[in-house]
Amino acid sequence: MRAVILCAGEGTRMRPLTYSKAKHLIPIANKPVIDLILQAIKDGGIREIGIVVSPGTKASFKSYLRDGSRYDLDLSYIVQQKPKGLAHAVQCAQGFVGSESFLLYLGDNLLENGVRGLVKQFRQGDSHAVISLVEVDNPRSFGVAWLKNGEIKKVVEKPDDPSTNLAVIGTYVFDYHIFAAIEKISPSKRGELEITDAIQQLIDDGYRVVPHRVTGWWKDVGTPMDMIDANQLLLDAMIPETRMKSGISLQVKGKIAQNENARVRDSKLIGPVIMGENVVIEGSVIGPYVSIGDGVIIKNSKIENSIILEKAVITDAKSIDRSLIGRYAELRVMGDSSSRFLLGDHSQVLKGSSECC
Ligand code: DAU
Repeated sequence: MRAVILCAGEGTRMRPLTYSKAKHLIPIANKPVIDLILQAIKDGGIREIGIVVSPGTKASFKSYLRDGSRYDLDLSYIVQQKPKGLAHAVQCAQGFVGSESFLLYLGDNLLENGVRGLVKQFRQGDSHAVISLVEVDNPRSFGVAWLKNGEIKKVVEKPDDPSTNLAVIGTYVFDYHIFAAIEKISPSKRGELEITDAIQQLIDDGYRVVPHRVTGWWKDVGTPMDMIDANQLLLDAMIPETRMKSGISLQVKGKIAQNENARVRDSKLIGPVIMGENVVIEGSVIGPYVSIGDGVIIKNSKIENSIILEKAVITDAKSIDRSLIGRYAELRVMGDSSSRFLLGDHSQVLKGSSECC
């Protein structure tokens, strides 16, 4: 079985960060989302993976992932010229998949327990499709499903007033009949070829579509706040390879994963916190739930629940919470109030400072 990961689309809900990088390459707990997904698929026993990308992001995916050999995977890149919907993206991957069954994985979904259970259920069953479902409080934000006698009988994309709380999430296994179903559907109200419409077409054509109940947490990381939430979930599960000890000028509580060459002094670290290479922290209170990328410098600041990307510099920020700070961003905010930031790469916020850019 092969896998297809959908990573095209415009990433509008993640702007400004997606102006310079596809959201799938943004790290959560210091690992790009795509790395977490590749690991989950590999754990599910699949090695041949096609990644659907947009023309503008193909080069950045390729330069980061290459042919996949460093993950012991065989990666191919498939370009979707325009984001015409998930079913259209699947159609673009038809040549890669051929007539085999395949795992479809939406590139902004993370699951605590990966896709092993889903793949196993398909392999052991006799259905034409297995669709992952999760009970949610906000079904209007997702594709939703209705069940009858252990099968899926109806699916609708983001309905106004659903009478079910079962969300269709972003992992599915299909056999080749899905391609004929996609041929038959038309663009939805939002102008996209929806995968939910293709699933409904499969059902209407008499094919067996069954649910897979997901265990453990699931997170759609389509927005910055979703990423902050996923950061918490991943840091909670983190097993630090090295542990920092408290010293004369350093207080440490909880799990801290840091690179040997981090320079931390006169500070308090409240785990879980993860730090990349060459991080400098001085006179600051960091944590809980903070991910700090390579080469970040933080001085005289207090930060919790946040993701700070590579080479950002943060000074005199008295209280940063639930923030996502882009690569090479510079943030200097005098004053005591708590602040939330969503800063793209290379942004500058120099509030209360006499310096100007
Ligand atoms: O997260 C679960 C939900 O994902 C499901 O409940 C919905 O049924 C399903 O349609 C999908 O909804 P979203 O609105 O969250 O999909 P989104 O536009 O965020 O796209 C999901 C991934 O697919 C994302 O990594 C971008 C990629 N994509 C998207 C489009 C529209 C493509 O590769 N090509 C596309 O044309």
